[in-house]
Amino acid sequence: MTLLTVLHYPDPRLHKVAKPVAKVDERVRKLVADMAETMYNAPGVGLAATQVDIHERIIVIDVSEDQNQLMVFINPELVWASTEKKSWREGCLSVPEFYDEVERPDQIQVKALDIHGKPFELKADGLLSVCLQHEMDHLLGKVFVEYLSFLKRNRISLKMKKRAKELVGQR
Ligand code: NI
Repeated sequence: MTLLTVLHYPDPRLHKVAKPVAKVDERVRKLVADMAETMYNAPGVGLAATQVDIHERIIVIDVSEDQNQLMVFINPELVWASTEKKSWREGCLSVPEFYDEVERPDQIQVKALDIHGKPFELKADGLLSVCLQHEMDHLLGKVFVEYLSFLKRNRISLKMKKRAKELVGQR
């Protein structure tokens, strides 16, 4: 398995729209394994292929306490969302060290393919619902900071650019 490089906001590649996976084959399963390893290593609770500069509709999630319940969503689609909304403090591996409140539908239902290409449907609430919506946004080229005010987003963008420069300077 290989650790993949996670793109950091405001990298323009985070705004690319992912294409559906045409065939769930060994190539896709290898990518899923690498994405899972990258997510666990970070550590994080979710990762979208967009974040590792692969623009295909693939998501890995693990919201379990022991980080031992990997969930894979290939070509995920939103089937239903509750009108009731809830606010959660979100973070993102592409925006390290920043957390802020985002309001989203409380419950959702999604359909997707598993790693064998078999379709399944799932109803989610709580952290899983938040995480799925956050990761599905990534596949559409949207990062959670885009829900925040222009001022906040601008500040995050400046700090991230400064951080990137500092990291380069350390090499
Ligand atoms: Ni994210």
